[in-house]
Amino acid sequence: MEKIAIVKIGGSVITYKAKSGTPTLRKKVLVQLARELSFYSGFKKEKIILVHGTGSFGHLLAKKYQLGNLQEKQKDKLGVALTRQSVQKLNSSLADIFLESGCPLFPLPPASLIRQKNGRIEFFDAEVIELLLTLGFIPVLHGDVVVDKNSQFSICSGDQIVSYLSNLFLAERVFFLTDVDGVFSYDPKQNPKAKVIKEIKRKKLPAIIAGINNQSSFDTTNSMKGKLSEIADIKCDVDVFNGLIKGNFLKALKGKRVGTRIIS
Ligand code: IPE
Repeated sequence: MEKIAIVKIGGSVITYKAKSGTPTLRKKVLVQLARELSFYSGFKKEKIILVHGTGSFGHLLAKKYQLGNLQEKQKDKLGVALTRQSVQKLNSSLADIFLESGCPLFPLPPASLIRQKNGRIEFFDAEVIELLLTLGFIPVLHGDVVVDKNSQFSICSGDQIVSYLSNLFLAERVFFLTDVDGVFSYDPKQNPKAKVIKEIKRKKLPAIIAGINNQSSFDTTNSMKGKLSEIADIKCDVDVFNGLIKGNFLKALKGKRVGTRIIS
């Protein structure tokens, strides 16, 4: 198998998370990202798996129906179905845009491949992903609501999918596109002196994650804590950068450092 890169596009990059009520797509950003990926795939031999977050398409309904609550063992069936349907709509809009740019996307609903236990992946039927990569497709997955052995259903975040697949397929590179410039030394919203950390050794991550615990508002800047916890399990180099800035995605794909690089 050729080299594999896994890309996670955060929900805050492709949707407006804060706009209350209706889920809204950031169409311009999606078009830009699709162009950058299509330009890259055109000249470089590297297999790519794309994973996207759900932003306002997933989190609003997941919250409404308490799908993140592992103690709640009687999940609202209609709530589960409505949340999944909303996420599928986002996935379909994203696929439309990337296909238009010439990227051979192949969307796969994670709920039909994954089974969880207490909110963690216990089983992942990933064979079809491998076959699709061999055939030259870009498999696309996303954060989803999946069956759970202990609580009927639970949320499987796109970040967890990335972490799992990166180790399964021995990915060489992993990219997280977020709505902030990388991993900061302090909460950038609280401390004006906060700077993006250019490089972090993986073994330093636990201390950084523990620090975020004490700065709750930092966590609201795109749930960096959860993201870093998943990144801590990834074995290869990981870039975390701002996917809202035009050109960043292509630069990162070409190997340039944008944002924070987590190394072994
Ligand atoms: C969450 O997915 C899935 C649902 C809420 C159904 P993610 O955790 O991958 O989404 P973002 O990146 O935070 O938006």
